[in-house]
Amino acid sequence: MLITKENLGDGVRRLAAELSSAYQDGVVLVAVLKGSVLFLADLIRALTIVPEVDFLAISSYGEGSGRVRIVKDIDVDIAGRHVVLVEDIVDTGLTLTYVLGELARRGPGSLEVCALLDKAARRIAPLALRFTGFRVGDEFVLGYGLDYAGYYRNLDLVAVGDLGTLREDPRAYVDGLYAGPS
Ligand code: IMP
Ligand code: MG
Repeated sequence: MLITKENLGDGVRRLAAELSSAYQDGVVLVAVLKGSVLFLADLIRALTIVPEVDFLAISSYGEGSGRVRIVKDIDVDIAGRHVVLVEDIVDTGLTLTYVLGELARRGPGSLEVCALLDKAARRIAPLALRFTGFRVGDEFVLGYGLDYAGYYRNLDLVAVGDLGTLREDPRAYVDGLYAGPS
């Protein structure tokens, strides 16, 4: 295990406090589906301001290729608004660079990133992450929104998985990480 439920809660509350003080005049939180959903749900419940929330879905052409396209766009007009993109994890940064570019073209008043996890060692595209929860090493992580082949997303902790093992058997850690009925 890498980050416990308790540690995640502490990190999310700290980020919520930072956002609440930075955006007293309002903010549009744009979450990237699907990985950010657990993080977003906990984050907004800990805010002391009222955010507007919207969602974006992207599809990538291949892991780490940086070639992505928007498959579900936001509905809110963000022109002149303070916008924060909410992401589960920033790895190479290629996905986020593309999404930020798309949003920037719409003329937001400001545009920042709030990422739960920062895998800084793997960054290819330099990015300024204004709000970050935790730094993780060059490892594949699972849980709290992060999945492998759809598994592990609904765990309320973050754990490290071995990619070789997962490629062989996507369910390799299911028995170990999901507690059965007691
Ligand atoms: P990037 O374009 O390399 O920064 O990729 C970011 C996206 O890849 C994230 O939003 C995740 O969906 C996925 N990703 C990157 N690293 C991990 C990981 O360790 N576990 C699960 N998903 C990951
Ligand atoms: Mg993602």
